[in-house]
Amino acid sequence: MIYLDNAATSFPKPPAVAEAISTFLATGAGNPGRSGHRLALAAQRAVSETRRLLASCFGVADPARVAFALNATEALNQALWGLLRPGDRVVTTSIEHNAVARPLNALADRGVAVARVPCGPDGALDLDDLARALEAGPTRLVAMTHASNVSGTVLPARDAARLAHDHGALFLLDAAQTAGVLPIDVREMGLDLLAFPGHKGLLGPTGTGGLYVAPHVRLAPMRQGGTGTRSEEERQPEHMPEALESGTVNTVGIAGLGAALRYLMERGVVNVAAHEAALTARLLAGLKEIPGLRIHGTADHRRQVASVSITLEGWEPVDMGAVLDSSFGIAVRPGLHCAPAAHRTLGTYPQGTVRLSPGCFTSDEDVDRTLAALRGLAGAGN
Ligand SMILES: Cc1ncc(COP(=O)(O)O)c(C=O)c1O
Repeated sequence: MIYLDNAATSFPKPPAVAEAISTFLATGAGNPGRSGHRLALAAQRAVSETRRLLASCFGVADPARVAFALNATEALNQALWGLLRPGDRVVTTSIEHNAVARPLNALADRGVAVARVPCGPDGALDLDDLARALEAGPTRLVAMTHASNVSGTVLPARDAARLAHDHGALFLLDAAQTAGVLPIDVREMGLDLLAFPGHKGLLGPTGTGGLYVAPHVRLAPMRQGGTGTRSEEERQPEHMPEALESGTVNTVGIAGLGAALRYLMERGVVNVAAHEAALTARLLAGLKEIPGLRIHGTADHRRQVASVSITLEGWEPVDMGAVLDSSFGIAVRPGLHCAPAAHRTLGTYPQGTVRLSPGCFTSDEDVDRTLAALRGLAGAGN
């Protein structure tokens, strides 16, 4: 099978991930921070070690500023609901995933003003448009994706963060498509909040993700409850990460994520980025040669991550996805990719596109076989 759905979740995972999960379940699966016995301590060690690795991956000085979450969606919800209050204004973009768009729509119903900066038909964000949106009124937060999950287009996060700060706003980056795939340093990029999944580019299991919260940012917790520490206190603790981590965390997944991060750091995020850029360049070059095929995005591997959206004359995306799977053993994702606004921006709403997303373990041969399959479909029509 050729797996080109890494933008949804990465597959395969490094073998060390399954090994770490299995060892953890056999030898360390206590409840972290809840007791002093050896299993609880082993679990605590695994959780702390993964937190330390995440901090080091994202240039975070104090690992306690990273709270675990189940996925990027939970982290984004925690950031948005924890920060924004009626009367606040937030600036976002027109290519956001529903994980940002839906909470913002719900917050708009509760009196938060939401301004959406339109991106171009290739998904690109013009910083002058962002500046104009910021000049239109006092803004609490700029919330945006680092790269579109539909077209792969990379947004200028560092410059956008600087503009946000120049206008007195905080900056939240949705790194669902870039964590583990592009280098991210919260200090160098000026990120106040960084939401990331553990199960995509970071190569960990599903059920993992997290939120970095800068020391000057205070969020109201989405959940309150037991934290294992200061049980005598009747109120939710305010210190991180406990403030945002009530209830037992996904220790099994976090142990697996730790192994994934060790793999990734050994291989080097810059090397993964170079591998995926080369695959994207190869894929785009081949796609451009196929008659009747349209690429919806930058069509330039230097301006995007390894997510390429296409349509093919004579084929509905959903049918093309089904045939690629059933006849060629190629796993892709057709449709709207939980990002209808992005598809409106790209001009592919409501039918959507077929998204091809190679990953860390995709080979040149996988790309070539996919191109051959698509050439066949272009010849056959539907
Ligand atoms: C840009 C973007 N944001 C948020 C999410 C949500 O991520 P998760 O599935 O980890 O909740 C996704 C998932 O594909 C995404 O692509």
